[in-house]
Amino acid sequence: MSAMTSLALARLLSGGQALSLDRLAAQTGASPQTIRQNLGALQALGVRVLDDGFDRYRLDAPLDLLDGTRLRRDLATNVPGLVIDILDECDSTSTVLASRLPAAPSGMVVTCEYQHAGRGRRGHRWTSGLGASLTFSLLWRFGGGSAALSGLSLAVAVSVCRALKHRGIAGVVLKWPNDLLFEGRKLGGILIEISGSPQGPSTAIIGIGLNVRLPAEVSAAIDRPVTDLAEVANKGEGSANALPLPDRGSLLVAVLTGLAGMLQRYESDGFAVFRPEWEAQHAHQGKYVYLLRDNLTVAEGVAVGVGDDGALLLRTANGVERFHSGEVSLRTSGMGM
Ligand code: BTN
Repeated sequence: MSAMTSLALARLLSGGQALSLDRLAAQTGASPQTIRQNLGALQALGVRVLDDGFDRYRLDAPLDLLDGTRLRRDLATNVPGLVIDILDECDSTSTVLASRLPAAPSGMVVTCEYQHAGRGRRGHRWTSGLGASLTFSLLWRFGGGSAALSGLSLAVAVSVCRALKHRGIAGVVLKWPNDLLFEGRKLGGILIEISGSPQGPSTAIIGIGLNVRLPAEVSAAIDRPVTDLAEVANKGEGSANALPLPDRGSLLVAVLTGLAGMLQRYESDGFAVFRPEWEAQHAHQGKYVYLLRDNLTVAEGVAVGVGDDGALLLRTANGVERFHSGEVSLRTSGMGM
């Protein structure tokens, strides 16, 4: 999409009111033809635009765009150490942050309304929708070495789950090493990229993607079963008490606030202090699972938990074996998912 015009249109229409083609053109400075093309581009991203037949357009549903002023104010109140850059569109917030190394300070956050080339673990793509996902990356500098960061991604997952729970979104579970699942479908993912020396200092770019309100077109383009926070909030744990889903900005502040606290604790105590909470939310704790490398089963057994370094502990025919996440991925059947 042409980020400037499509986003400008999305902002103008986001409140739900119908606006004429002329007004949209006047307010964006684009020609009517460009407006039409960009409305088409919005549709392709799953933002449904309705035309009343008289060149008046409105969105089918309100669009939850970030309010930069409010977001910065709330972050400054809750976590003054974080600095946030809010982009309309980028390829990947983690790539943007990496391009700002080595000058970027610890606590720098990059987020965007639409990420068009999101990266997942082990070379996978991460697909998101315009205003329909939270995609953000946080830079954190550690005095210690990269060797101590093997459990970091699991601690991040615990922290995200905690923040969601605080905002009334319960029932999310974890798949080793750091996927967030609800009813067996993927809700969020974490990509951690570490640089520095094993002895220290070291730097982590913590990239997090959460599906918030994925349009059907976006979900259909993802090659695995997915869910979103809207569905989790709707089903709620004891759905009578289900709370309305907070807006993306409030969710982002909640998650970043939790992360900053978690990272300080991780620096002093490592993953060990988060381990019981991780295991309590482990989707496969005590279950028989398979570990795959290049789509081939390399181990199978009962998942008995994780170590203080974040390694998966698997009871196999050889006893309890340890596996690190860079090597393998977990499945509930011997075939690739
Ligand atoms: C995974 O489950 O494979 C990890 C997905 C991580 C996606 C997030 S979205 C924000 C950040 N930018 C990226 O390109 N990736 C991470």
